[in-house]
Amino acid sequence: MHPMLNTAIKAARRAGALIVRALPDIDRLQVETKGRHDFVSEVDRRAEELIIETLKGAYPDHGILAEESGLAAGNEWEWVIDPLDGTTNFLHGFPQFAVSLALRRRGRLEQAVVFDPLRDELFTATRGEGAQLNDRRIRVSRVADLDSALLGTGFPFRQSDSVRQWVALFERVAQSTSGIRRAGSAALDLAYVACGRLDGFWETGLKPWDIAGGSLLVREAGGLASDLFTEGDPLESGNILAGNPRVYRLLRTAFAEVPGVGPI
Ligand code: IPD
Ligand code: CA
Ligand code: CA
Repeated sequence: MHPMLNTAIKAARRAGALIVRALPDIDRLQVETKGRHDFVSEVDRRAEELIIETLKGAYPDHGILAEESGLAAGNEWEWVIDPLDGTTNFLHGFPQFAVSLALRRRGRLEQAVVFDPLRDELFTATRGEGAQLNDRRIRVSRVADLDSALLGTGFPFRQSDSVRQWVALFERVAQSTSGIRRAGSAALDLAYVACGRLDGFWETGLKPWDIAGGSLLVREAGGLASDLFTEGDPLESGNILAGNPRVYRLLRTAFAEVPGVGPI
C-alpha cells in the first residue's frame, strides 16, 4: 500500500474513533451555526485537528484544504479534508456520517479514504490501482436501466433557487427509478456508488471536501464522476453527477431534457 494512503487511513481512523466516542454526549455538544442550516460542532473541529496533526506529522510540507480551518499552502501535494461529512446526521444521532480525505498532486486526485466509523467500513482508492472496501476490491454496479436503478441525491437546503432546480431534476427521474435516497453524507453516497449499493448520485452546491475522496473512489471502481452540467471537474463547480457508466449516461441524457437547468 502507498505510504501516503496508509497515513490517510491512520488519520481517518483516529478521527472516526473520536467521533464515535463523542456520540453518547451529542446533547451536550457545543454547536455553532456557520450559515442557515449549516452547523459545526466541537467534534468537527477536534476531528479536523487530529487529522491535520497526523498528516502533517508524516508530511510537513504538504498543503491542506480543510473544511473548518481552510487553506494552508504547501508544496505540490494537497490534502482535501472533511473531518465529519454528515454533521447534521451526527448531531441527531442518525447513523450515517463519515470522515473523508483525499490527496491531490498539482490538482489531480491521487489517494482517497472515506471511513464510516459506525460500520467500520473503510473505502480506499489509489489512482490507477482500483478501489477497496476493507481491503476487498469494489466495482460499481452493472445495472443498465433507470427502472432498476437505486439513486442517491442531496437536497440543496441552503439556497432556494437551487431547490427549484433540484425539484425539476427530481421530477424528471422520480417515477422512472427503483428509488431515490437522501442519506445525508455526500462522501458516503459516492462510496456507495463505488461499491454498487447505489447506481447513481447527483447533488449541487457541494464543496471540494464533500466529494474529493468519493469522486476518486467512483472512478477507480469503474464509474464516472463529473460536473452535473458540463462534464468538467465537479470539485471546481460543486455540482456532481456520478454513477456506473450506463446509469451515469442515462441520467445525463434525462437531466439534459429538463428546461432551464444549469449552474446557479
Ligand atoms: C454535507 C453532507 C450532505 C450534503 C451537504 C454537505 P457536512 O456535509 O455531505 O450530504 O447534502 O451539502 O454540506 O456539512 O455534513 O460536512
Ligand atoms: Ca461535507
Ligand atoms: Ca463536514
